[in-house]
Amino acid sequence: MEVVILQGSKQIGQLAADAVEALLRRKPDAVLGLATGSSPLPVYDELAARHERDGLDFSAAHAFALDEYVGLEHGHPESYREVIRREFTDRVNILPENVHTPDGAAEDLPAACRAYEDQMRSLGGVDLQLLGVGTDGHIGFNEPGSSFASRTRIKSLIEQTRRDNARFFPSLAEVPHHVVTQGLGTILEARHVVLIATGAQKAPTVRDFVEGPVSAICAASILQFHPHATILLDEAAASSLKLADFYRHTYDNKPAWQGL
Ligand code: F6R
Repeated sequence: MEVVILQGSKQIGQLAADAVEALLRRKPDAVLGLATGSSPLPVYDELAARHERDGLDFSAAHAFALDEYVGLEHGHPESYREVIRREFTDRVNILPENVHTPDGAAEDLPAACRAYEDQMRSLGGVDLQLLGVGTDGHIGFNEPGSSFASRTRIKSLIEQTRRDNARFFPSLAEVPHHVVTQGLGTILEARHVVLIATGAQKAPTVRDFVEGPVSAICAASILQFHPHATILLDEAAASSLKLADFYRHTYDNKPAWQGL
């Protein structure tokens, strides 16, 4: 795990966008893994700006979303298919048919989940997966207790997550109870994962998954097993880390050729 502590969201957005840009220049048909929620928004803003300004090209790329609510009709403004489209993919030149989201409205959810995994595999797997982390340590919607071997499947949200996400809905009652999410086993297969956490409310979670034991009670801790996991934090999210000074020193002295 590489922990990088930056001043704020703008710097985080730029550094994560550098990694995506380097990937696309090396591999124009790269497969990107996209997260929703607030954490990745500065990355999407920066990538949209680079597309507009420098012609950063997404025309051969594919993208897979991490998760989707179950029970929202197609086209619901808070469905992650719509959120991803609005916040990111409509702002760059990725082909709409190359943007994939789990189908939370499928009649046969297990079959739709298997098809999603098959599609990801047939395109060679995810090259770079963007992640946020829930205050309960979830990545994707792998809530506490999720199997480390899990694949894309239906999950129940815990109340803390529903409350955290209520800000996007007219009321808490409208936040779905169920979701379809890539599993922890699925996420672990991405070749590079870049997790972003900002704000003081994430500080205890960050301390737990970066420096605590690997445990299903804190799903993100499985990233300690990932061979290429980059954790981008602002000062507030990093404020409870024991080894913050060591991470800063390491990053400040990192050879430039290594990139992220
Ligand atoms: C979203 C997702 C979630 C969020 C997490 C943090 O697709 O998979 O794991 O990344 O809930 O959300 P924010 O960034 O809004 O704090």
